[in-house]
Amino acid sequence: MGRSKAVFVCQECGHESPKWLGRCPACSAWNAFVEERASSAAGPAARTLGTQKRNGEARPLRLLDARAAPEERTPTGLREFDRVLGGGIVAGAVVLVGGDPGIGKSTLLLQVMNSLGATLGPVLYISGEESAQQVRLRAERLGAVGGDLFFLAETDLSVIEAALAGNRPRAVVVDSIQTVFHPDLPAAPGSVTQVRECAAALLRWGKAASVPVFLVGHVTKSGELAGPRVLEHIVDTVLYFEGERQTSFRLLRAVKNRFGPTHEVGIFEMTEAGLSEVENPSRLFLAERPPNAAGSVVIPAMEGTRPVLVEVQALVGSTNFMGTPRRLVTGADYNRVAIVLAVLEKRAGLALGSQDVYVNVVGGVRVQEPAADLGLALAVASSLRNVPVGQDTVAVGEVGLAGEVRSVARLEYRLSEAAKLGFTRAVIPATNREGLRLPKGLAAVPVRRVEEALEECVAR
Ligand SMILES: Nc1ncnc2c1ncn2[C@@H]1O[C@H](COP(=O)(O)OP(=O)(O)O)[C@@H](O)[C@H]1O
Ligand SMILES: [Mg+2]
Repeated sequence: MGRSKAVFVCQECGHESPKWLGRCPACSAWNAFVEERASSAAGPAARTLGTQKRNGEARPLRLLDARAAPEERTPTGLREFDRVLGGGIVAGAVVLVGGDPGIGKSTLLLQVMNSLGATLGPVLYISGEESAQQVRLRAERLGAVGGDLFFLAETDLSVIEAALAGNRPRAVVVDSIQTVFHPDLPAAPGSVTQVRECAAALLRWGKAASVPVFLVGHVTKSGELAGPRVLEHIVDTVLYFEGERQTSFRLLRAVKNRFGPTHEVGIFEMTEAGLSEVENPSRLFLAERPPNAAGSVVIPAMEGTRPVLVEVQALVGSTNFMGTPRRLVTGADYNRVAIVLAVLEKRAGLALGSQDVYVNVVGGVRVQEPAADLGLALAVASSLRNVPVGQDTVAVGEVGLAGEVRSVARLEYRLSEAAKLGFTRAVIPATNREGLRLPKGLAAVPVRRVEEALEECVAR
């Protein structure tokens, strides 16, 4: 450890400052600065990424001579998890799994480790949060009690390092990285300095031993514990596990992936027996759709490379007594909804200025792509006019400020998913029509403008 001087560190994003700041200039978090001791002049990244020195001399390698062998991947046994990773876990990869407390991170990783144990040999689950008894109970409930799954309840990094060196596990989970501390560091457990240094040490071990390491990180707002964001630049892969606590759907998203894509989404359902893969997300998302309800529209959206049908609902009602109309949006992009409302008002003459508008994408899904615009517009118009959009209809298209309906990518994928689930009519951008191969049983309604779509679907 080098010299030690006081610094203030944002507990949300890790931004450092020589003095205390009320608001972080990097991530805009309030009251997130906490005084910590800087442990060394160089950050952990500088040390972990050091060049290979021989006799104090770094030798650059001709890129042409570097081996370009594909990484070795081991399937984790959970197909949705593998999909997000890019086809299995890479040896030596360090994966951060972040998410709200109670969302199911420990459950997911226990299932993953149990099945990795079966393929790789002894694997080690280290928990600083739960006892062996607690984890054993969960493992029994999940049917994850394989003989190669080992457990260690420990938070002291020096003990963990000794255990890793002595036992040479083939995969490691540290649940959670915020509970782990190194006794030699003056900073408190859970502080940015501790979290960073411990993660860097585990990363060095994982790289040297060529063993995958999963770090669990709780997302925190309070500023007491350092959030997973301070680790995002250190690790290879950052996955976020999310979902509404009230519903049983869970989505796993990659926000960073050195060994695979970042646009894939894993869809799970939390059950008594653990997380199960959702074979047909569209069917699940549409299971509770009310028949012929005004304000409900199905959008063939894309989640990564996979088409998923989602139901968007709008509720439009008069604003109370001269108040400002309310706009509440969950699951869709607020700004895009605002644009769609403005276009409906200006181009299609819908009087929305005195109406409260609530928009909700059902099932805790998030639909952020512009291709959802037309579905959003139809849902709002359908609710305002109290005319249901046909039960068998899906709608997709980007809406421009002039009211034009613009083409979308991967339309054939989207439509074949719709046809698979029994939809018979698709409102699509006219600009997409040419050369489009329609799936059997599905009729296209090409529209050029948002008014045409309203005329087709929610005419009074
Ligand atoms: N007996 C049970 N049956 C079904 N679900 C359970 C049971 N016990 C816990 N859970 C679910 O597991 C969740 C906790 O998951 P966990 O993996 O501990 O989350 P995290 O590690 O992200 O904090 C709970 O919120 C609950 O939904
Ligand atoms: Mg947990």
